[in-house]
Amino acid sequence: KMTKSSGIQCEKSLNYENKLILAPMVRVGTLPMRLLALDYGADIVYSEELIDWKFMKSVRRINDVLGTVDFLDLSDGTVVFRTCEKEKDKVVVQLGTCDAQRALFVAKLIENDVAGIDINMGCPKEFSLKGGMGAALLYHPEKAKSILSMLVQNLKIPVTCKIRVFDNVHDTLNLVKDLATTGISAIAVHGRTKTERPQHPNRCTTIKRIAESLDIPVIANGGSREIDRYSDILKFKEECGSSSVMIARAAETNCSIFRRHGMKDLENVIKDYLKYAVDYDNSPSNTKYCVQNMLRELQETPRGKKFLECQTLEQICAIWNLGDYCRKKQLEYQSKGILGRREVTP
Ligand code: FNR
Repeated sequence: KMTKSSGIQCEKSLNYENKLILAPMVRVGTLPMRLLALDYGADIVYSEELIDWKFMKSVRRINDVLGTVDFLDLSDGTVVFRTCEKEKDKVVVQLGTCDAQRALFVAKLIENDVAGIDINMGCPKEFSLKGGMGAALLYHPEKAKSILSMLVQNLKIPVTCKIRVFDNVHDTLNLVKDLATTGISAIAVHGRTKTERPQHPNRCTTIKRIAESLDIPVIANGGSREIDRYSDILKFKEECGSSSVMIARAAETNCSIFRRHGMKDLENVIKDYLKYAVDYDNSPSNTKYCVQNMLRELQETPRGKKFLECQTLEQICAIWNLGDYCRKKQLEYQSKGILGRREVTP
C-alpha cells in the first residue's frame, strides 16, 4: 500500500480537502437525496448511519432493473443500502459500530461499491450510547482507535470519523490528535457536546483550534442554524478555519443549499427529489418522510394534508404533477422484471 507521505495514493482516491459535504442523516440520507445533493453541487455525500449488525445480515445484489447495487435484508426483503454508479466515487457510508471486527466485516462487504467509510462517534441517542456506539466512543478512545486502525490498515478506501466536541478545548484537542494517529484521512467535527442540542450555539472556535492542530482535513459541521444561503456556508467555513464543510439540517429542508448560484424554490426541489425517488424505486414511507421534512409547516395547508394521506409513490407524485412520470416508470420496471425492492426470494 502506498504511504501517505509518498503523496501518491492510487487506491485511496477520495480527497476531503476543500469539499462541500452532505452530512449523514438517518432516513434522510438515502440514495435519492444523495443524488440530488450531488446534482446541486455537493462534492461528497454521506449515507445515513447504518448499524453494523444490520449490514452483516444483508446480501449484495446487482439490481439490473434499477441499475443499482443493493444490500438487502433477506429476512424481510428491505433495502439496507442502495447505491449506484453515479455516486460511486463520492459516497461515504457511515457505520454505527462498537466493534473493530464487525466494522471491518461490513466495510469489506461494501468496499468495492463506495468511496469511503466513516465511523459515527457523535450520535447522542440512547440506542447508540447503550450499545457503546456513537458518542460513547469519545469516552473510550482506545476502542475508537482500534476500530479506525483496523479499517485503515485493511481497506483500500479512505476512513474517517465524525465526532462531537468536549466542553474542554484541551480535552478535545487531545482526543482528535489521538484519533489522527490511526491514519484516518479526515475528521468531521460537530461543534456541540454530547449533551448539547441543536438550539445551543455551535462551538466554531473549538473547530478552528482543531483545524489548526491537525494535518488532515477537518470537516466543520453544526452550522445549519445560521445557514440560509450558499454564502452562509462560506462564512461558516471561514469562521471554523476548516478545510471542508458538512451540512445536515439546511440540506434536509432544502437540498439546493449546495447550489453556488442560488437556491431553487421548494416546489422544484421536491419535484427533483421525487423523480429520483421514482427512478430508484425508493420506498413510499421513506419518500414521504423526506418530503415531510422539506414541507415542515406547509403540512398544515390543504395540499399538505392531502399529501399526508398518501400511501403510494404515485399518489405522492400526483400532488406535484408527476403522477404520469411515476406510473410510466413503474410500468417500465414491471415489464423488465419485478421491482427491485420486492425481488427478494429468501
Ligand atoms: C442527524 N445527524 C446524524 N449524525 C450522524 O453522524 N449520523 C446520522 O445518521 C445522523 N442522523 C441525523 C438525522 C437528522 C434528521 C438530523 C437533522 C441530524 C446529525 C447531523 O449529521 C449533524 O451533525 C447535525 O445536524 C449538525 O449539523 P447541521 O444540522 O447544523 O448542519
